[in-house]
Amino acid sequence: MDSTQLSVTCIAPVNIAVIKYWGKRNESLILPINDSLSVTLSTADLCSKTKIIADAKFTDNVMILNGKEENFENERIQRCVKEIKARAAELGSCPKELLEWKIHIESENNFPTAAGLASSASGYACLVYSLAQLYDLKKQEISDIARMGSGSACRSIYGGFVQWQKGIQLDGKDSIAFQVAPASHWPDLHVLILVVNDSKKKIGSTSGMARSVVTSELIKYRVEKCVPQRIHSMTQAIKDRDFSKFAEVTMKDSNQFHAICLDTFPPCVYMNDVSHEIVNYIHEFNRTEGETKVAYTFDAGPNACLYLLEKNVKRVLSFVNHIFPNDNQKSAEYVRGIPVEYESEDVNEFQNYPQYEKNTLKYIIHTKVGEGPSRVD
Ligand code: DP6
Repeated sequence: MDSTQLSVTCIAPVNIAVIKYWGKRNESLILPINDSLSVTLSTADLCSKTKIIADAKFTDNVMILNGKEENFENERIQRCVKEIKARAAELGSCPKELLEWKIHIESENNFPTAAGLASSASGYACLVYSLAQLYDLKKQEISDIARMGSGSACRSIYGGFVQWQKGIQLDGKDSIAFQVAPASHWPDLHVLILVVNDSKKKIGSTSGMARSVVTSELIKYRVEKCVPQRIHSMTQAIKDRDFSKFAEVTMKDSNQFHAICLDTFPPCVYMNDVSHEIVNYIHEFNRTEGETKVAYTFDAGPNACLYLLEKNVKRVLSFVNHIFPNDNQKSAEYVRGIPVEYESEDVNEFQNYPQYEKNTLKYIIHTKVGEGPSRVD
């Protein structure tokens, strides 16, 4: 090689599952007990950005995450780096000496960790995608490697609507993600993330799901009887752009996932009183509107992710702003992401709904379905 330094910079998206991944059959390879399906969110509003420099003169591998040095020996990081290098060596995709060079990785999220949004999915997807660029594995399947960093990360390797098939092989080679439909198939699918003020420390997804697998009886029923049918209905709803079906399955699956968390012993409680209020309000809103205009889904935390069509964003946001009044309601700091010119007159229509205590929401992120990872340097 003529140069002694190589560098790549990439971004990768966040994804929010509509059919949840919860439970592993192999902890170290991160193999799930059920298929899951998610929507990839636009990197314009939420993403991880990773820069990797490989240099013949570097003496150590370094990983800096959001400005803080991380232990490079971390098992998940190690597995991703080793697997990518092994694949590059096997295929001879890049010069051998490049694989010997130490690397410096700098990664950051363009959204505050305080948002309580899972950054591991976009973070590991970005790490693995950037390494694949560095070692010239551009056309190869890499979702199985991203999966070894964090399960949900394999779905962030693709844009649009993505399914992670659990696979049946012991080595996990068939536990990969694939695109069900591109973002362009349903570009008016928008998202409002309601970031709920919350100070309680929650049990992490990794240990929570491990506990569910051991103690929940309902989880077996979910895996065998519910998920396969739901994946089928969800795929059909996406193909048909049938929002009402999409919304119904999304809400039912979120509720079932949290029911399993409560069936876990000791229980994992992720939703709080505000989360439950949001659920009630959304059902009431859909009922009075005479059609399903919004769907909620909750991951391992109290924040609500609302799916809705672009044409309904203004009305839904007016509704949310009525229910959850905020001192900063008018500022761009409060409603982040895609700008919305909502009509304040609408607010009067919602006078019958009781209002929640002021400043219950930290802020709102408005975004939409988006593309997969890309190189930005
Ligand atoms: C509730 O992917 O964070 O968000 O594989 O142990 O890293 P690990 O877990 P993680 O779990 C995500 C769980 C979820 C549901 C989902 O995204 O499907």
